Amino acid sequence: MDGKTFIITGGNSGLGYQCARNIALQSGSNNVVIASRNVEKSEAAVKQLVSETQNTGIYSLPLDLSSLQSVRSFAATFVSQKLPPLYGVVCNAISCGEKPAEDGFDMTFATGHLGHFLLANLLLKNMQDGRIIFVSSDQHNPPAFIAKIRYTDALEFARPNKYSHNTKYSFTKLCNIYCVYELSAKLRSETDKNITVNAFNPGFMADTGLAKPKNTAEKLLKQLAPLLARLLGMHSSAAISGKLLAEYMTNAKYEGITGKYFDRTKEIPSSELSYSKANAANLWKRSVELTRLQQQETVFII
Ligand SMILES: NC(=O)c1ccc[n+]([C@@H]2O[C@H](COP(=O)([O-])OP(=O)(O)OC[C@H]3O[C@@H](n4cnc5c(N)ncnc54)[C@H](OP(=O)(O)O)[C@@H]3O)[C@@H](O)[C@H]2O)c1
Repeated sequence: MDGKTFIITGGNSGLGYQCARNIALQSGSNNVVIASRNVEKSEAAVKQLVSETQNTGIYSLPLDLSSLQSVRSFAATFVSQKLPPLYGVVCNAISCGEKPAEDGFDMTFATGHLGHFLLANLLLKNMQDGRIIFVSSDQHNPPAFIAKIRYTDALEFARPNKYSHNTKYSFTKLCNIYCVYELSAKLRSETDKNITVNAFNPGFMADTGLAKPKNTAEKLLKQLAPLLARLLGMHSSAAISGKLLAEYMTNAKYEGITGKYFDRTKEIPSSELSYSKANAANLWKRSVELTRLQQQETVFII
């Protein structure tokens, strides 16, 4: 089989779906794997994507990021499929439920950070050239009235905890950026791989599942949020940001650019806190411990 393969976590809806659609549209030789927990929904998404793009190289494989076992099974199944070389990984999915994840970790942290940390490590063995993008958010640096973000040790957020939904979400999105900076630096200093790693903020997208209000207060906020987002220049949609995200994965102009934070079309600095090398190193060390990452599972010395 010819071409390149791209994996998109949570590619069955929202931003991930639009990213998958645009990667599939860009070239008939691009293969796209939708990695999602809901098999039925993913199969329906694949059908829809094939019909919208006429690209027949679109597949779905089960991945539940809230289960480390599922992440390991996904990586093994992916390798057994013998698709064209893996070129791109879009770490996009997140689930913000109150229920702890399968391994007892906080659901937001487990799906948004830990599962992706493990996934990236497991897949790197199968990549020589390529791109990895972690979908973060401007909420990695929220205004104080939304969430107060501090970082002492990743363990404080790894277990189900007392923090609000917004705080957990912001912390996880901050972890995405630490992971990007650390992974990008490690790839450059410890391997000969030509793989770039960047973070992407899609802006506020009122048309995805994540933005669905869960209670009356959120319903009210939802009415205001698009207006506020427009006023603050943060407004977007799944279609607009999905297209941009696909560009970062495929466009030659981003070749070699690594360890950066992109706010939709622009590279901008991330928050001051996100540049703490000590925090990034702490997160990496804790993530190795929490995922029980084994030496044979990663290209890095652990
Ligand atoms: N919406 C916004 O305004 C906004 C703003 C900034 C950043 N973002 C970021 O954009 C990314 C995409 O979010 P979205 O807005 O497109 O939300 P979404 O529509 O809710 O999509 C989330 C995707 O993640 C999948 N998913 C959830 N839990 C999973 C798990 N345990 N294992 C595997 N897949 C799982 C969902 O699949 P199921 O069908 O199985 O639920 C769905 O496909 C997230 O990283 C989010 O933080 C969003």
